[in-house]
Amino acid sequence: MNKQVAIEALGEADILCIVGARPNFMKIAPIMAALAEAGDAVRALLVHTGQHYDAEMNDAFFRDLSIPKPDIDLGIGSASHTVQTANIMLGFEPILAATRPSAILVVGDVNSTIACALVAAKQHVPVIHVEAGLRSFDRAMPEEINRILTDQLSTLLFTTEKEAREQLCREGVSADGIHFVGNVMIDTLMRQLDRAIEPADTLAKYTHDNAFVHLDKGYALLTLHRPSNVDDSAVLEPLLQSIVAVSQRLPVIFPVHPRTRAILDNTGLAGILASADNVIQLPPLGYLEMLGMMRRSTLVLTDSGGLQEETTALGIPCITLRENTERPVTVEEGTNTIVGLDSAKMLAVVDEVLSSGGKAGKTPVLWDGQAAIRIRDILLSWLQTQPSYQARHQP
Ligand code: UD1
Repeated sequence: MNKQVAIEALGEADILCIVGARPNFMKIAPIMAALAEAGDAVRALLVHTGQHYDAEMNDAFFRDLSIPKPDIDLGIGSASHTVQTANIMLGFEPILAATRPSAILVVGDVNSTIACALVAAKQHVPVIHVEAGLRSFDRAMPEEINRILTDQLSTLLFTTEKEAREQLCREGVSADGIHFVGNVMIDTLMRQLDRAIEPADTLAKYTHDNAFVHLDKGYALLTLHRPSNVDDSAVLEPLLQSIVAVSQRLPVIFPVHPRTRAILDNTGLAGILASADNVIQLPPLGYLEMLGMMRRSTLVLTDSGGLQEETTALGIPCITLRENTERPVTVEEGTNTIVGLDSAKMLAVVDEVLSSGGKAGKTPVLWDGQAAIRIRDILLSWLQTQPSYQARHQP
């Protein structure tokens, strides 16, 4: 009942912006800020699906990135992909009906992205996809399915790298809707870099030992959460052994995703890391803590998509623990090297970084901090052509 009243109180909107999971937050922040600058020209509401809900996975990002409080939070939480996606769809449909937007805007490739895009497309509400056209060509990744389908449902597609346009056209997407605008995640990085928290302060906050007094001699930053890496012990165990081998060369700092934490604890594999002298485990970090950790690191080991881009923007060598990437520009132009789960390759790249600094890389075209402004400007022009927007904004 209360929820119903809250929905009706939302009123009509020009655009509904959707977020759900951690990697969405740094993408939506500059878009909300740019839309706010447009004042009365656009009424944008923020809908949170609640896919991520822990303070460390959610609240810290809203605070650090000054994202406005969501106008509505569906509170969906964790479940199987089917249940989670279906619950988001069920929760989102009445919001869409009540607010009658001219478009919805989704970012990235998480379950919240496809769930809301599907609801809107079925109701003939145009979908705008930020970070369109990225492909790993690996359909075992849930995100790959989400990317392909969201792009098929989208009217406006904003891309982060040049190759994305060709891929979208190959998949039959109309070229008219595709706009290469740069990378909103890098907008956020540039905006927040001065506020990044020093690693020593983060370690002091979360740890009680002083094993890392020699941190200034360098460290590797590790993240690991892809189902393909962590869900199967037969994969995870050798991967952890490789990490221990890395830690014999330089300290490893490991903020542990809740999914990975649960698996480490339930399988007993946590013991592998606990017995290594030089691996320090932390809870999931806030954005400014993570940015500070990344910026000062010697190298990053990760299976995240976002970190591949952020390290390229920062010029920090990145070793990607996956067989592929949907972000090829980070390999072709940036600092990223794909090693998969090959321990020998991983250690060879670590040694190369330690001896010669590794790949220098350069910043990709349009990763200049202005992507959200470009998106806003294109969006405003497009809105003027939409009858529902014209009707709402009649003088
Ligand atoms: C999701 C995204 C992934 C993204 C990642 C970043 C999809 C398909 N996957 O994966 O693309 O890289 O977010 O984190 O959308 N959990 C908590 N607290 C939370 C959220 C999750 O404890 O706030 C735990 C739960 O046990 C949950 C598990 O993490 O079952 C997985 O969460 P889920 O949202 O299903 O996927 P992620 O692995 O986080």
